[in-house]
Amino acid sequence: VPPRALSGATDVAAVIGMPVRHSLSPALFNAAFAATDLDWAFVAFEVDEAAMPSALEGARALGIRGLSVTMPGKEIAARLVDELTPDAETLGAVNSIRLDHGRLIGHNTDGPGFVDALRLDSQVEPEGRRVVVVGAGGAARAVIRSLAAAGAAEVGVVGRTRERVERAVALAGSAGRAVTEDAIADADVVVNATPVGMADRGDDGAIPFDPARLHPGQLVVDLVYHPLETALVRDARARGVEVVNGVGMLVHQAAHQFRSWTGIPAPIAAMRSAIEAALH
Ligand SMILES: NC(=O)c1ccc[n+]([C@@H]2O[C@H](COP(=O)([O-])OP(=O)(O)OC[C@H]3O[C@@H](n4cnc5c(N)ncnc54)[C@H](OP(=O)(O)O)[C@@H]3O)[C@@H](O)[C@H]2O)c1
Repeated sequence: VPPRALSGATDVAAVIGMPVRHSLSPALFNAAFAATDLDWAFVAFEVDEAAMPSALEGARALGIRGLSVTMPGKEIAARLVDELTPDAETLGAVNSIRLDHGRLIGHNTDGPGFVDALRLDSQVEPEGRRVVVVGAGGAARAVIRSLAAAGAAEVGVVGRTRERVERAVALAGSAGRAVTEDAIADADVVVNATPVGMADRGDDGAIPFDPARLHPGQLVVDLVYHPLETALVRDARARGVEVVNGVGMLVHQAAHQFRSWTGIPAPIAAMRSAIEAALH
């Protein structure tokens, strides 16, 4: 769908962070605005941590409708907004800001996006499942909290920095466990929430855990989406294990942002096509 021409009435949303020049968000959200025929436009602003306070005041003054927040601004955004959703408050991180009559409302849509991808794309209901999450950073924390909220029976966390693992485990309440890679063999769902395998790190061939622990019947979710097919995705598939990349979470977390800013349902299929086209 071709985008609308910009006008004096066009509403603006943006991604802020550093770097953002290669962000997929403009392609994703402009495709969504075009598909829903909204007079909105989405741009990227390079904003480092030090500039976050003035960027948010500027957004308020300019009447920007929504902001996606990427690294390194997610934690500082949580301290700067006027209000936090319960997810954003617990995680201490904001990936999306809705401007409501000048008030900045901080959301975190990564966890809900992950759970939507599980349910809607993979037909896996988290309730009662045993899950192992590899990694304990921002993405892992969001995933862990949402899995526990969705009723996962066990959320095991594998990580290399003990203090960070303990803080991540605590987000899952009584379902949380600090585990070693051995736990992967007994999991229903295994999530890679480390950046290992990302193309821009130059370690395309790397796999974040020993894939010999996987077996058919499990679902592996690699949160990495660039490349679309990581070494983990290829290896797991060759073992007969069901595996998906990070595109589903990316699309569904953006769908939550779109819905919170515009108040209308997100055009999921158009958003997914835009991402896949941008990544191919
Ligand atoms: N699909 C999506 O929508 C989506 C959304 C968010 C993030 N992601 C992806 O998820 C990944 C993680 O992002 P993030 O924001 O959570 O990053 P982050 O906050 O920097 O956390 C990265 C985690 O991975 C661990 N780690 C890094 N390198 C490792 C290695 N070589 N071996 C073992 N563990 C390693 C880190 O361990 P330490 O704690 O010891 O440093 C940390 O726990 C990225 O690839 C990102 O693109 C995808």
